[in-house]
Amino acid sequence: MSRNKKMSVSSEALSALWQILDDVEQYLAPTSEREREQVPLFSDAEALDADQGQAIGQMDLASLASQVVSCTSCVLSEKRAHPVFGSGEPGAKLMVVGEGPGEMEDRTGKPFVGKAGEYLDAWLSAISLSRIHDIYITNVVKCRPPHNRDPEIQEVAACLPYLIRQIELIRPQMILCLGRYASQTILENQKPLRDLRGTVHRYHDIPTVVTYHPAAVLRNTGLRKEVWEDLKLVASYLDLALKTR
Ligand code: URA
Repeated sequence: MSRNKKMSVSSEALSALWQILDDVEQYLAPTSEREREQVPLFSDAEALDADQGQAIGQMDLASLASQVVSCTSCVLSEKRAHPVFGSGEPGAKLMVVGEGPGEMEDRTGKPFVGKAGEYLDAWLSAISLSRIHDIYITNVVKCRPPHNRDPEIQEVAACLPYLIRQIELIRPQMILCLGRYASQTILENQKPLRDLRGTVHRYHDIPTVVTYHPAAVLRNTGLRKEVWEDLKLVASYLDLALKTR
């Protein structure tokens, strides 16, 4: 396949994904909790004829987690040891979104527990955030892609309702996307990461910053300066002290 052909296939696939994202958001019904607060995060759903979408739109975090445990919506479920739903508390200041579980995460069912996770903890600590108290952390896809390959468009699409509902329930003050997959998916934007980073975007009404994936920075330490700039954006928005050595 020629390079041009590849580019056009991939941009069509991404457009299809974003169409699915829009459709999923349409299906998600407002929750009674959100109605009480009268702060709709996403567009109010009307004709809710997609049973699964409607159900997910009404789930609390515990039911959503059980749904993910039994999910067989895409082929990633076939090889997983454990799905990785996410961890943290509703109301966490910052929601961190990665790409998908790696080997350690698949073994333990917990997000970012490998080397990239340790490095991420150091990033968070540099802006006075602790994973336990301040962060909700999850991934775009909840099951490990075999051999850590990139998730396919249909796998991302199958998992998106879970992520969208998690954001609705957590209601973070800010979202931090790690790497190209999380950034392009959440921002519905095909631009390269280097063009998306360095500024505060909005996911609906939620300020959203993107940066490189910690695993990429471990491979290419030249990216550290940009990551620090992005973390300072988060710190400034959340009014956090910078801890420099
Ligand atoms: N990389 C990710 O994107 N997510 C994890 O949970 C672990 C590594």
